[in-house]
Amino acid sequence: MSEAGQAPLSVIVGDITRTRADAIVNAANSALAAGGGVCGAIFRAAGADELSAACRAIGSCPTGSAVITPAFAITAAKHIIHAVGPIYAEHAPAEARALLRSAYARAIGLAERHGCRSIAFPAISTGIYGYPLEEACQEAVDVCAQEARRSGVAVTLVAFDADTAAMLRKFARAHEH
Ligand code: APR
Repeated sequence: MSEAGQAPLSVIVGDITRTRADAIVNAANSALAAGGGVCGAIFRAAGADELSAACRAIGSCPTGSAVITPAFAITAAKHIIHAVGPIYAEHAPAEARALLRSAYARAIGLAERHGCRSIAFPAISTGIYGYPLEEACQEAVDVCAQEARRSGVAVTLVAFDADTAAMLRKFARAHEH
């Protein structure tokens, strides 16, 4: 278990629906609708009917922000935080970068306000939303390291494939020095 103040950022390879953390993060869309990718996996694992109803009750979430629901049938987590990253092609690069960082930072802030000690993220925007992998991993590690130190919430970045894991680890190592 990571301790607050010790740069509590880690990278693992796996399926986020099976990752133990107080909150797991969904790479959501603004409509909070069930999608493909990690979003589809989370809706299936949590129970699509219950999670869809909770998302409908919230309504929507702007790009760069996050909302929280229970984790329902996902027993390894208490909460699902739905963070909306940018669709890369819809923004100038600097704006996409700010929106991606904001999605991570808002998710960690929300976790902190709900008393979470740990949060696990997928690589937001790097799949269907088309954010270039290397840049996205660099921003993810940078903002999560900063927010983990600030908040004391332990952050795990969950890679689903080897390329993403290698990229996240490269930047995480650079942050240790
Ligand atoms: N656990 C962890 N990571 C996963 C999982 C999983 N079970 N399934 C997929 N991933 C990874 C993908 O391999 C990718 O690296 O999550 C990363 C993000 O990819 P997407 O799920 O495509 O998310 P994103 O690019 O942010 O697109 C969001 O896709 O599913 C829809 O509703 C979602 O409209 C939204 C859009």
